[in-house]
Amino acid sequence: MPCSGRNSLRHDRLHRAAPGRTELWPRRRGPGEHAEVSTVNLFTDVARPVLFRLGGGDAEHAHEWTLKRLASLPAPALAALRSRYAFSAPVDVFGVRFPNRVGLAAGMDKNGIALPAWPALGFGFVEVGTVTAKPQPGNDRPRLFRLKESAAIINRMGFNNEGAAALAERLAAVGPLPVPLGVSLGKSKVTPLDEAVDDYLTSYRLLHPYADYIAVNVSSPNTPGLRTLQDKDSMAALLKALNGPVPVLVKIAPDLTEPAIAELLEVCLEQGAAGIIATNTTLARDGLAESDQHLAGEAGGLSGKPLTERSRAVVKFVHDETGGRLPIIGVGGIMSADDASRLLDAGASLVQLYSGFIYRGPDLVRAVARSARPIRSHRAR
Ligand SMILES: Cc1cc2nc3c(=O)[nH]c(=O)nc-3n(C[C@H](O)[C@H](O)[C@H](O)COP(=O)(O)O)c2cc1C
Repeated sequence: MPCSGRNSLRHDRLHRAAPGRTELWPRRRGPGEHAEVSTVNLFTDVARPVLFRLGGGDAEHAHEWTLKRLASLPAPALAALRSRYAFSAPVDVFGVRFPNRVGLAAGMDKNGIALPAWPALGFGFVEVGTVTAKPQPGNDRPRLFRLKESAAIINRMGFNNEGAAALAERLAAVGPLPVPLGVSLGKSKVTPLDEAVDDYLTSYRLLHPYADYIAVNVSSPNTPGLRTLQDKDSMAALLKALNGPVPVLVKIAPDLTEPAIAELLEVCLEQGAAGIIATNTTLARDGLAESDQHLAGEAGGLSGKPLTERSRAVVKFVHDETGGRLPIIGVGGIMSADDASRLLDAGASLVQLYSGFIYRGPDLVRAVARSARPIRSHRAR
């Protein structure tokens, strides 16, 4: 599919807003201490404390509540958000035109229920999913934890989703977005690993007509055995099967060794993958604040600030190893515009946010989109 043709680029006006404070987790004020009106940040000082208290502090409750609100925003509200947050700095990557370099990472809107809200919040592309061929409930709750002092999240959602057919139906009803749409595919939990290719293929056939790119998720730590699909032979078989008109990118784990990544990159180049998404969440528990240590033992993938350096190292390795031949979407621990710039400098062409958006809100999207503006001509992208 001619990717940029489906989702025509709209040029949004830039509205400058007063600069907000930049700290991720502001110091609690003492009695008698007041925030100065001029430095109040609407998201970190007002919205976030309310959102983080919803459902008695249950992170998944807040997530669902927020998605529902975003899904039901009327057109005037979307227009108001767009005029505040949208930013145009177009760039072409793997044959697709992106209005700016910052996208919504997979997992935030798995079933695509709030699609019009994301471009209005400034995202230059949206990755829905991960979806699986069969609908599935995911793991038991609680399965999502905020590690606030560490600006991190642990999740073991387990691909809870309504299934590929339901997403296809929703995408058909919504119609084209003003930004490119990526669709992330995973393996259904009940499907044995040796039938994984057919499982991905089922989802691919249902969803590729709506996608500007397909992300093959073989790196979630929360589906037993899934990460073994990153092995050379499995990866080759999968990419061969998904060879079609839509660019296919492979999302990799930050926990792979360099030789394993190198082997995977070789397969991706051989099989004509369009790019790499680096990285998914980590099984490591480095970089946690003392006050979050009691959550370190929760099973699942860690994201956010503790992942910043590792994902940057992986992006740099992928870029160096391929000599820039495989475009990279950099994701993992982008908590500031500076983090994003450093990921771009390491070799990413585009970036995505998940945890940073939870902790910093849409101001971060705008800041990243604006700082990621310069087209770096020294790299083949
Ligand atoms: C709650 C949650 C659910 C996620 N679900 C998915 C998913 O379904 N598919 C996927 O590829 N990545 C998923 N991710 C990983 C993110 O897309 C991203 O790769 C990772 O969180 C690192 O980025 P961050 O540090 O900005 O959060 C999820 C992350 C979180 C926190």
